[in-house]
Amino acid sequence: MDQDNRSLISLEGLGREDILSLLEKAAGFEAQPNRKILDGKVVATLFFEPSTRTRLSFETAVNRLGGRVIGFSDAATTSSSKGETLKDTIMMVSNYADLIIMRHFLEGAAKYASEVSPVPIINAGDGANQHPSQTMLDLYSMLKTQGRLDDLNIYLVGDLKYGRTVHSMLTAMRFFNPTFHFISPEELKMPSEYKEFCRINGIRFQEHSEFNEDVIADADILYMTRVQRERFTDLMEYERVKDMYILKNDMLRSTRPNLRILHPLPRVNEIAQDVDSNPKAYYFQQAKNGLYVREALICNALNLI
Ligand code: CP
Repeated sequence: MDQDNRSLISLEGLGREDILSLLEKAAGFEAQPNRKILDGKVVATLFFEPSTRTRLSFETAVNRLGGRVIGFSDAATTSSSKGETLKDTIMMVSNYADLIIMRHFLEGAAKYASEVSPVPIINAGDGANQHPSQTMLDLYSMLKTQGRLDDLNIYLVGDLKYGRTVHSMLTAMRFFNPTFHFISPEELKMPSEYKEFCRINGIRFQEHSEFNEDVIADADILYMTRVQRERFTDLMEYERVKDMYILKNDMLRSTRPNLRILHPLPRVNEIAQDVDSNPKAYYFQQAKNGLYVREALICNALNLI
């Protein structure tokens, strides 16, 4: 891990031991979530795109650790709506805060912010690019439910083109010998650069267009994703693909006992409501795990653990 620049922009700079160490720290926060580690610290949350879980779990993490939060959840209320540049916004906020957590609609915005900011930046999602804190909580959820990260069969379903969470997951899982199955319509296939990343890193993957009981029979993790309307330039295309893959409870009958269903949320139609009461559904606990993982990520960025 680069200890000089403590920003978290993607998971590329983290090795296997860094990831496992952060997950172990997250487990410590799960055991003891309320501590005064951030006493006197101010954390800014700058959300240029909508969020429920990411922003509120980061802010809860700061509150539970005794820090203070400033920021915005609607950029229209800030001076960026008057034309202030991202650089100037970051320079201003770094006058007030010890750490900036930022979600932005532009791919590369977090990296750019980290290059101009005197304080660390945590990327809370940049366009269709990366969402590293989501991946860390996804890994934490896999570790908790499977007892290991190595040698898992992971099925990624839905919007693999624009889904930043699945892109970040490939980056992190390169150390853990996974077998991925990419299930998507033609229009939303995993982009070629990520498939090339898999080939270079020896990650096995298969692509499927069918989504049914037989295809998912060997899954340890079924990772559902939302088709992201906000990323489409052609809304007719969105309408055509939005309901193509819906997980229904009866598709889970002959799946592995250890299977767990994850979803970064929000869900729209891609998981039927009756799946929620199936013991294999884990997406709400997964979101809860985000609190502990983000406590660890904040403390790591501030060099406090
Ligand atoms: N998973 C996730 O990023 O959710 P939000 O968009 O609600 O933050």
